[in-house]
Amino acid sequence: MDRRKFLQAIGATTIFLACKGTDSDPVPDPKEEPVLFRFAVASDLHWGEANTDYEMHTRNFVSAFKDFNTKSSCGFLVLNGDIIHNDPVFLPQAYEALKDVHPKLYVTQGNHDRVSEAVWQSTWNQSFNSDFAIDDMAFVFGTTSDSISQNWLRCPNIEFLENSLEKYKNKKHVFIFWHIHPHMDTMGCTDDVKAVMKNYTNVRAVFNGHDHNDESIKTIQGVPYMFDGRLGGSWGSFDRNFRVVEITKSEIVTYLMTPTTRKKLSRFKM
Ligand SMILES: [Fe+2]
Repeated sequence: MDRRKFLQAIGATTIFLACKGTDSDPVPDPKEEPVLFRFAVASDLHWGEANTDYEMHTRNFVSAFKDFNTKSSCGFLVLNGDIIHNDPVFLPQAYEALKDVHPKLYVTQGNHDRVSEAVWQSTWNQSFNSDFAIDDMAFVFGTTSDSISQNWLRCPNIEFLENSLEKYKNKKHVFIFWHIHPHMDTMGCTDDVKAVMKNYTNVRAVFNGHDHNDESIKTIQGVPYMFDGRLGGSWGSFDRNFRVVEITKSEIVTYLMTPTTRKKLSRFKM
């Protein structure tokens, strides 16, 4: 039996139970600081993609996230792009399936969310580029999809980014959500993004989807760019993860839920 078939046969949960004591250990460290605020992010559901059981993947995610949220309350949930797969007809269906997953649901547009901003706004009550603040934290959401040229891949809006970061320069923590990682060679925006980001040292993390196989964290200019694999789609990570972020007095703690087991815990001291 090859490795992938072996993993599928015994199931991810068994593997993580077997790894107790490593980064999947669900037992909290008594020295851990209290969590001051917690939120979650997931990406790439691809509702409507052919030859995928997107309804089942959505049901599994919604059920697992609600269960997690009951035990570990999240301030909000972000769906970080590619919620649907290309055809605008899928958007109202996906909305119906997802609208109750959390009372505060935020979204970003991915390259497969191929609808106009007017449709996006009327569905999610959120524009392509938006931001808000809660106490000493700010959250910035930007599209990386081009619905005007229909090229469907675009750099973040640099003017919006700079305006948002300037607006929140006195906040303790800023978090940015972009579906596509802006430092990919093919995007051609790394210099522009770096030129703005270097002026704002309160950016604690950037969240990216798009790369369905990527569950890693890449540090660029001292900022962690956090990937989460995928929820749906025809290819990608073995697990259908969502990422949890916890803010304590002196750390940003983050981990992936598989969606029922914790793995890949990372800590960032402030
Ligand atoms: Fe995707």
